[in-house]
Amino acid sequence: LIVKIYFKIKEHMVEIRIEICGLSGSYKIGDVNGVGRQFDGIGGLSGGGATSRLLMNYADPYRSHVLDFLFKPNFGASLHILKVEIGGDGQSTEGTEASHMRNANDENYTRGYEWWLMKEAKSRNPNIKLVGLPWAFPGWIGQGTVWPYKNREVTAQYITKWVLGAKSEHNLTIDYVGIWNERPFDVEYIKTLRRTLNSAGLSHVQIIADDGSVLSAISNDIMHDQELAEAVAVIGTHYPGTVSSKTTKSTGKPIWASEDYSTFNDVIGAGCWARILNQNLVNGNMTATIAWNLITSYYNDLPYKRCSLMTANQPWSGNYVLDDPLWVTSHTTQFAQPGWKYLQTVGHLSGGGSYVALTDQKGNLTIIIETMSHDQSICIRPPLPAYTVEDQNATFVLEGSFKGKVTKMQMWFTQLGQAGNRDVFLNKGSVAVDKTGQVSIHLPIDSVITLSTITTAMKGSYPTPPAPAEFPLPYSDSFDKTLGFSEPFNFADQAGSYETFHNNTSDDGHEWTFRQVVEERPVTWCSDPNQTITVIGNYKWSHITVEVSIKSESTYGAFVAMRVDKGGCDAREARGVYFWLMKNGSIMLTSDLTAKTMLKQCYFYWECFVADYSELGWNKVKLTIDSSNKIHAYLNGKLALEHTITKDSNIPDNGFVALGTSDYGTAQFDDFSVTSA
Ligand SMILES: *[C@@H]1O[C@H](CO)[C@@H](O)[C@H](O)[C@H]1NC(C)=O
Ligand SMILES: *[C@@H]1O[C@H](CO)[C@@H](O)[C@H](O)[C@H]1NC(C)=O
Ligand SMILES: *[C@@H]1O[C@H](CO)[C@@H](O)[C@H](O)[C@H]1NC(C)=O
Ligand SMILES: *[C@@H]1O[C@H](CO)[C@@H](O)[C@H](O)[C@H]1NC(C)=O
Ligand SMILES: *[C@@H]1O[C@H](CO)[C@@H](O)[C@H](O)[C@H]1NC(C)=O
Ligand SMILES: *[C@@H]1O[C@H](CO)[C@@H](O)[C@H](O)[C@H]1NC(C)=O
Ligand SMILES: *[C@@H]1O[C@H](CO)[C@@H](O)[C@H](O)[C@H]1NC(C)=O
Ligand SMILES: *[C@@H]1O[C@H](CO)[C@@H](O)[C@H](O)[C@H]1NC(C)=O
Ligand SMILES: *[C@@H]1O[C@H](CO)[C@@H](O)[C@H](O)[C@H]1NC(C)=O
Repeated sequence: LIVKIYFKIKEHMVEIRIEICGLSGSYKIGDVNGVGRQFDGIGGLSGGGATSRLLMNYADPYRSHVLDFLFKPNFGASLHILKVEIGGDGQSTEGTEASHMRNANDENYTRGYEWWLMKEAKSRNPNIKLVGLPWAFPGWIGQGTVWPYKNREVTAQYITKWVLGAKSEHNLTIDYVGIWNERPFDVEYIKTLRRTLNSAGLSHVQIIADDGSVLSAISNDIMHDQELAEAVAVIGTHYPGTVSSKTTKSTGKPIWASEDYSTFNDVIGAGCWARILNQNLVNGNMTATIAWNLITSYYNDLPYKRCSLMTANQPWSGNYVLDDPLWVTSHTTQFAQPGWKYLQTVGHLSGGGSYVALTDQKGNLTIIIETMSHDQSICIRPPLPAYTVEDQNATFVLEGSFKGKVTKMQMWFTQLGQAGNRDVFLNKGSVAVDKTGQVSIHLPIDSVITLSTITTAMKGSYPTPPAPAEFPLPYSDSFDKTLGFSEPFNFADQAGSYETFHNNTSDDGHEWTFRQVVEERPVTWCSDPNQTITVIGNYKWSHITVEVSIKSESTYGAFVAMRVDKGGCDAREARGVYFWLMKNGSIMLTSDLTAKTMLKQCYFYWECFVADYSELGWNKVKLTIDSSNKIHAYLNGKLALEHTITKDSNIPDNGFVALGTSDYGTAQFDDFSVTSA
């Protein structure tokens, strides 16, 4: 605290003025003792899982606007790294993502939307780095077990083929691959993967490990195993709370927060992101941070609502939201690029908060300052120890190669926290560096400030997107369009994988259908149910009618459901109202996905009086819950089952509509519609 006292003799009066100037710190910025670690970039994670599912549904220009805000240099988040899931047909948090190899002989690099997303990112920023990481694996990888390292050669080939397919099919160069997200690592597998990549001519593809163990346990192995040390290029840690272990630092490897943030994207989420982007380096020597997740393009009622940099989960309205974390990202990404070096002159501010400095070693200098208070920057995990931040002034004293060379810097400003006037990524023009190399600025609490010689930064903008709207009703899809993706719009697979299917020999009006295609339980990342399920619509739906045609192929049964109350890793516990058609001739109503709680059941020959049920062919079903909570289930136009929901039924009041199967195997759906009951 500096107290300045002024005395002024004014005619016969003495004026005494006392100014409490508060905190003021002075910080050296320079390369007198050389530079520090290489900066590897700031990134976003699409996947882990299915987080970008609804983005492909957006109509242009909104879809391309969203992509610009994420990837276009000098425009928005201008990300340096895009990390994607290597789909394994298993649940990986918000849904499942399609695999490129559903059996040992299958190879297909057109499924899903991650290829598309990577190409869109590359077309905007050719320098963006691409990372691939598996969560689940297709069942055959386990070779009868639930362990993906049963046959290390097979798994290494599977990953290597994904990298090769990215190139051959999409001209995408993958820069990094990981091992198995947040699951035990296998040292021998990592070595096998390194050899397999090398023999496929992919020695430039670097391995990140281990993506999740507590305190990066792999660091210890790296210290004692030369081959492993050579195989692992980057130590990837998750939710490190800005610190890394002594052992991890002593490996000398680049350290990344390869998954971090995961916080609701309001002003506190933005504060979390601002704090960790700086402090992951200052406290933990981490040189890249990747946000889970890139974009909320999954339904709000799935887990981890809006834990992303921005929100675009209403393709039917075109609405999207540029949440504050997006602009916090810009404070770093638009002023430094991968390959720049952090200076060693980084650290904490005397009044709380932190600063980092970076250079391209060609004369450019960027200083990023954050003063996030504790309560305004809490991340989802780990717990944040108490600390205080005060309003303060800072003087940065340029030294070394910057002294006398840098005479002015551009200033960009964001005010977060609860302060009334929030500014986000505002250009404050240039500030002068005085002859002694000093630049002084005021640092309000909860602010992010960038000082930089870079003059190309821009706060991009587009006309306001359309207003938000509820999922439209009535809704229908007969799956008769290819849309350029293997999956139709708006369905969000929670177990199994569903695709648009074309039967070119069809003579029964079902040439284009919607088909579950996973035939074997995957090597899971969550405890997926043994049923498959894909959800759609408005979670608030309560009294509606769903119609659909169903054909079980290799599955034992299939269902249509409503009021489905859970997805994500809890999908197996989903309740709701499920109408099943089973191959043994039974039709059933249950209140849960695993069919443990039967509401009504009948067997077609002697109970249901539904003579034309075709166990092996197509059946038209209709399920409705009317305003008096009566369930009616129709089969091929005739009422088959009915049931009245009571208080004790343990049936949710509302939820998603869903389609699904009783087990893994193929089944088809067609002529789907939802209307109000
Ligand atoms: C920061 O500096 C300005 C201008 O010199 C001064 O008015 C203000 O009181 C200072 N604030 C703090 C917290 O020291
Ligand atoms: C690749 O997979 C998609 C979706 O499963 C399918 O539509 C397409 O026909 C497959 N391509 C080839 C060449 O098999
Ligand atoms: C593939 O991408 C590279 C840039 O990464 C580009 O130079 C080349 O022209 C592309 N090739 C094709 C066939 O599009
Ligand atoms: C980690 O960073 C601190 C400064 O932030 C620095 O003093 C230290 O040398 C770094 N350690 C390693 C191993 O890079
Ligand atoms: C800084 O970077 C820009 C590109 O952003 C470059 O044109 C310029 O030469 C660099 N060096 C200096 C000293 O500004
Ligand atoms: C139907 O598709 C198969 C597999 O793609 C192809 O071999 C066959 O020629 C097609 N038949 C017709 C009638 O188009
Ligand atoms: C394709 O259509 C034909 C004729 O309708 C039918 O017999 C066959 O089962 C269908 N194939 C699939 C995979 O649905
Ligand atoms: C799935 O089925 C297998 C055996 O078929 C069983 O061991 C496993 O417990 C089931 N998993 C769940 C989540 O029901
Ligand atoms: C048909 O299969 C279902 C699911 O396995 C079972 O619950 C039902 O009791 C069976 N029905 C008959 C009549 O065997």
